[in-house]
Amino acid sequence: MSSEMYSLASRVKLANGATMPRIHFGLYMIPASKTRQAVRWALEAGYRGFDSAQMYGNERETGAAIREALRSSTSEDDGGRLAREDVFYTTKLASCSADYQQVRASIRKSVDACGLGYVDLFLLHSPYGGREARLTSWRALEDAVEAGEVRMAGVSNYGVRHIEELMASHPKVHPVVNQIEVHPFNTNTEIREVCAKYNIVVEAYAPLARGMRMKDRTVLSLADKYHCTPAQLLIRWSLQHGMVPLPKSAKRDRIISNAQIGGFEISQEDMKALDDLDEHLVTDWDPTDAA
Ligand SMILES: NC(=O)c1ccc[n+]([C@@H]2O[C@H](COP(=O)([O-])OP(=O)(O)OC[C@H]3O[C@@H](n4cnc5c(N)ncnc54)[C@H](OP(=O)(O)O)[C@@H]3O)[C@@H](O)[C@H]2O)c1
Repeated sequence: MSSEMYSLASRVKLANGATMPRIHFGLYMIPASKTRQAVRWALEAGYRGFDSAQMYGNERETGAAIREALRSSTSEDDGGRLAREDVFYTTKLASCSADYQQVRASIRKSVDACGLGYVDLFLLHSPYGGREARLTSWRALEDAVEAGEVRMAGVSNYGVRHIEELMASHPKVHPVVNQIEVHPFNTNTEIREVCAKYNIVVEAYAPLARGMRMKDRTVLSLADKYHCTPAQLLIRWSLQHGMVPLPKSAKRDRIISNAQIGGFEISQEDMKALDDLDEHLVTDWDPTDAA
């Protein structure tokens, strides 16, 4: 068994030498009106990574909640005063486009919307749009990194051929992350392998399989064995595979408990039993084989 300990304070090293939190708070389907509260609860629980997107409609509220926390934090707080560098904010370009200026303007709009001065990680949300749109959008993202608007760049929902296409284009900025759907019911191993080949960290979206398999027999029996919740088991599985899970909840008790994954370790045999649950369950969309 690996003896690595995980917590909300754990960080993962990226190809560019920087680090980011091991667990991020997912913000999909949290309506703008509930976002400030959810982000506040997540910050109080200790989450430091936040995963938003242009498509989620909550970039402004996520940034506002983080800024509020930065303003109200003091040196008396647990862990000391919260600084901008302690928080890692991700957002995503809704659609790739072959119109360079349009993409640059869209990135700038997201940077302005969060009000955090810069975006830590900007992702191309999906490969839809075709080769020219993907590579032009990547060039715009590289220029946003060079301009200091964005610290790091990555992709999302990229399949094997999209990753190979990007790497063959000799990007000036190395993609640090590919954010794809991964959980035991959709293990996406081929995409994870190509990411490993290029030292691209896999962010696991829908790490709880969107709540669709919480009553699965294997999940329930292993949760019982490790004295954890099914959600904690699934998050721990992502971490032990070296991925960065992005669990979402709009409920305070779940936000807190989902991240309490340090007190147990899944054995290799049980990791394998979870891997074997793969049924290619797509919980939302699957653009990974887009033309
Ligand atoms: N790049 C992409 O294309 C893409 C696509 C999908 C998601 N994402 C990112 O990944 C994040 C996570 O994915 P996701 O939100 O689709 O799914 P998820 O995190 O796998 O699951 C969220 C669902 O599980 C429920 N849940 C949370 N904690 C639970 C618990 N302890 N017990 C039972 N149910 C629980 C939530 O309900 P409550 O809120 O009611 O607790 C919600 O319905 C997103 O928020 C987003 O940031 C990215």
